Amino acid sequence: MVKIDYTSVMAETIGERDGILREELLSFRHFISDIHSRIQREKENRFFFTKLPYQDTSEIKEYADYIRSEFDYFVLVGIGGSSLGAQMLFESLTWLNHNSFNYPKFYVLDNVDPEKFEAIMEKVELEKTCFNIVTKSGSTVETIANFSIILDLLKQNFGEEYKKHLIFTTDPEKGFLRKFGNENGIKMFDIPPKVGGRFSVLSPVGLLPAAVLGIDVDKLLQGAKKMDLICSIEEHVEHNPAYLIAIVHYLANMRRGKTIAVMMPYSERLSAFVDWWRQLWAESLGKDGLGQTPVKALGTVDQHSQIQLYRDGIRDKIITFIQVENFERNLKIPESIPDEISYLRNHTLGEIMNKELLGTKAALIKSKIPNLTITLDEINPYNIGMLIYLYEFATGFSGYLYKINPFDQPAVEEGKNFTYALMGREGYQHKLEEFRELYREKYKLEIQ
Ligand code: PA5
Repeated sequence: MVKIDYTSVMAETIGERDGILREELLSFRHFISDIHSRIQREKENRFFFTKLPYQDTSEIKEYADYIRSEFDYFVLVGIGGSSLGAQMLFESLTWLNHNSFNYPKFYVLDNVDPEKFEAIMEKVELEKTCFNIVTKSGSTVETIANFSIILDLLKQNFGEEYKKHLIFTTDPEKGFLRKFGNENGIKMFDIPPKVGGRFSVLSPVGLLPAAVLGIDVDKLLQGAKKMDLICSIEEHVEHNPAYLIAIVHYLANMRRGKTIAVMMPYSERLSAFVDWWRQLWAESLGKDGLGQTPVKALGTVDQHSQIQLYRDGIRDKIITFIQVENFERNLKIPESIPDEISYLRNHTLGEIMNKELLGTKAALIKSKIPNLTITLDEINPYNIGMLIYLYEFATGFSGYLYKINPFDQPAVEEGKNFTYALMGREGYQHKLEEFRELYREKYKLEIQ
């Protein structure tokens, strides 16, 4: 079950300066109807991610079983949309200490930080490790650089048998990785060409690692399907959860000056969900001088770090809390505690977590800070599938509200191209010239 309570974003609760009027929500009726029909028409193109919940998962599950039986370590090498989804599934749907007690142990090598690389390699035994190289373009510098070192290591240690340790997840036709895989007979999974990195978690990009970790990928897709049915049919903003989230954030941004969207789950296991959402929201909607800055916070920890600012600082935020009703494991505070702290007696930690959330909400309402709560009855693959799809659909729809293309990332490409030029990649000489014109180190301070 996923429940959205948006009472505290409404003007009725926090006033018209910061809150949204119901008339405003409803006034989008015709606009929504247009976008709704457009999305239906684009399901074979830009909105192709909406097809993913309906895919056949048998090959993924079969191969995952093989990996589970052959390897003790599964290392995903990829970055951005090629890693954040799998990390989120790992953190939310396996036990927090998975790597301490279970196999295969899972690691994500996203950055090119050499110390991170070494730290992960120290944790794995090479002969028992499967490396899943994930890159849609097949050419992202970080991924290809990390892969190059791994490839060399594998060849040095296992000769031609190196191939057994590799799986590529990439575009079915394009890119260096596909070509290398074809030429060398590496096992490969396809990323559907029309699905962009940050919308790809429900493709083999996220599903293969999830299945390797023993997560029920069919339940995940079942949740996504359920959300798809609602989001694809319902046009009414008050009945379509994706449209509701999108319009509430759009109005808060464009009409109430809330340029920052905070997401704050009261669950450690959902911390990586926020990292995944942050990329989705930022890279999809940050265009043409528009978009909200997504900010990550964690309950209750950030009550003691951020809430002062959220309540009393610049009034530029809308906050989404995520609440979990039932924690998989819960602990009761014993009867025997000293009388001075007896108010805690017999309460569970999970209960305190949720009461702290309510307390924080009340304080925010008092300061008229718009906030909404998404409640999950528990963290399970079905609910996470719903939540993933909800935010993907809301993000796609938001793009059309802002009248921008939510599926490209020209500003990211620019940085990638300058890096290629700096690394001496052929065909990028003109970017090096542009770089030299742009980049100066004129004002500096050095302290020894
Ligand atoms: O969402 C996106 O498209 C990006 O964040 C990409 O996922 C990221 O840049 C990595 O790209 P690739 O999968 O081509 O290596």
